[in-house]
Amino acid sequence: MATSTSTAAPAAGGKAYRFVDHKFDVVVIGAGGSGLRATLGMAEQGFKTACITKVFPTRSHTVAAQGGIAASLSNMGPDNWQWHMYDTVKGSDWLGDMDAMEYLVREAPAAVYELEHYGVPFSRTEEGRIYQRPFGGHTTEFGEGPPVQRTCAAADRTGHAILHTLYGQSLKHNAQFFVEYYALDLIMTDGAVTGVVAWNLDDGTIHRFSAKMVVLATGGYGRTYFSATSAHTCTGDGGGMVARAGLPLQDMEFVQFHPTGIYGSGCLITEGARGEGGYLINAEGERFMERYAPSYKDLASRDVVSRCITLEIREGRGIGPRKDHVSLVLSHIDPAVLHERLPGISESARIFAGVDLTKEPIPVLPTVHYNMGGIPTNYWGEALNPTAKKHDEVQPGLMAVGEAGCASVHGANRLGSNSLIDLVVFGRAAAQRAAQVIDRESPIPDLDLAACDKIMERFDRLRYANGAVPTAELREKMQRTMQEDAAVFRTEESLQQGCKRISEVWDEFSDVKVFDRSLIWNSDLMETLELENLMANAITTVYSAEARKESRGAHAREDFPERDDKKWRKHTLAHLSPKGKVTLSYRDVHVDPLTALEDGGIDPKKIAPKKRVY
Ligand code: FUM
Repeated sequence: MATSTSTAAPAAGGKAYRFVDHKFDVVVIGAGGSGLRATLGMAEQGFKTACITKVFPTRSHTVAAQGGIAASLSNMGPDNWQWHMYDTVKGSDWLGDMDAMEYLVREAPAAVYELEHYGVPFSRTEEGRIYQRPFGGHTTEFGEGPPVQRTCAAADRTGHAILHTLYGQSLKHNAQFFVEYYALDLIMTDGAVTGVVAWNLDDGTIHRFSAKMVVLATGGYGRTYFSATSAHTCTGDGGGMVARAGLPLQDMEFVQFHPTGIYGSGCLITEGARGEGGYLINAEGERFMERYAPSYKDLASRDVVSRCITLEIREGRGIGPRKDHVSLVLSHIDPAVLHERLPGISESARIFAGVDLTKEPIPVLPTVHYNMGGIPTNYWGEALNPTAKKHDEVQPGLMAVGEAGCASVHGANRLGSNSLIDLVVFGRAAAQRAAQVIDRESPIPDLDLAACDKIMERFDRLRYANGAVPTAELREKMQRTMQEDAAVFRTEESLQQGCKRISEVWDEFSDVKVFDRSLIWNSDLMETLELENLMANAITTVYSAEARKESRGAHAREDFPERDDKKWRKHTLAHLSPKGKVTLSYRDVHVDPLTALEDGGIDPKKIAPKKRVY
């Protein structure tokens, strides 16, 4: 570790910053499931690895993942990777990249057994095997058979169990953690990512990390919306950094609403509740999902169930004085099963809805839960910087994993429990790839001081921002715009209005007011930096959605109700200019699986596009 003083001219009379400089082979930003799995993998490979995280690792948002992690272990009945692949392809509404999806489902069992061996305390069957429960959209026989029990669970605290285990393992392998450090921006040198500048929230020091590889594992951007199951820390920091570095974001229009957020608080009630036998009812007490999805009912995929709930409410069959939600019934399930399999949601229902779920239904409403889009990557986690000629051009020095990345395995809609498996499979893949592409003999790149100074100029611009609009006011404006104009159902009118309103929010950011100028635990400044990241994600989401004239997965256009494979089976790439102009281009979907049929691959006919019904 070495310290030096910046050459940056501080804005508005501030003092020059003293920097603490670090050199690592690999710097991972974020310590959720994917960040920790990447950190552990990099350290196992022998790389000198740092993990920078704005919250203590076991408080990362993965801790809130409840229901489980998908892998075709066949512990509860027949299953195989081809069925898992078919379900994932169909769930993605044929937008996912086939090579990445095959990689995910084939690697899934090994990745779960690895977690078991690292120490994750999975729930068990009578025989002592990992317990698996049904989840929406996971089926047998290429969608022709009954639901499958594929989701491996540690009660309804699976993410919690995984985080604790991976953090312990990362420490064991001597990864170095920089906890409560906030990454400000990527350092770019001659087109390559060569490090990152971070702010130590606790003592106010500024740190410059140079590295051969930076891995963004910063999670999603759920907090662009007013109501989300995502933690308040889910502010799309990786997407913001990437956009400021001039790199594109992919498929941002696809935002997942989870059918069962608790009415009012938005707190998650796991899909595992329906997996264990729970069902939804409307004001007439009707199990309405039987009408919409006769085969899989409440276990249809999330986008479908969220739309059905929205339709029930629209058509006047919502529950409560405002007829604005539906109910999830679990009271018919044996209380011993609820206690053993769903202890977390029993507590959440009591605290956030005042409901004893052994006796009463839980009031629920679709709530923003996941971002299918993000930083484009290949299936090894390498970030892409597509050009007109080369759609799969790799961005030197950068990887992205987990919800921050877009491999794309979820396409237009993610299946429940395919997120945790995405985190560990691609966190692990990034480490394996790094071992192939990082030159162990070459020196760690020198810091580009001019690039670092530019980063500090932005920091100072916000630190000393003295406009008229408080951060919280602007954030709420953004969140209400997203909630109203980029909702479960969208129209040209709502999206055009959304573009106009979100651009106004963007422009108003130049008039933001930060009240606290200090560097130690300055949550006002941190939330303003986060808001700038949120806005980069929000504006690219709305403009990408306005442009896509079809319905696919979570992107449901009332004016274009059908999927249009001819025109729209392609990934959106959104470039954001510093002035807030979004430029869109498109990239082909990878339609070929990794393995040819004659080499033991899936039959391409099985995964050819068709109408998506459950
Ligand atoms: O419903 C849930 O437990 C959430 C799981 C997921 O998003 O994968």
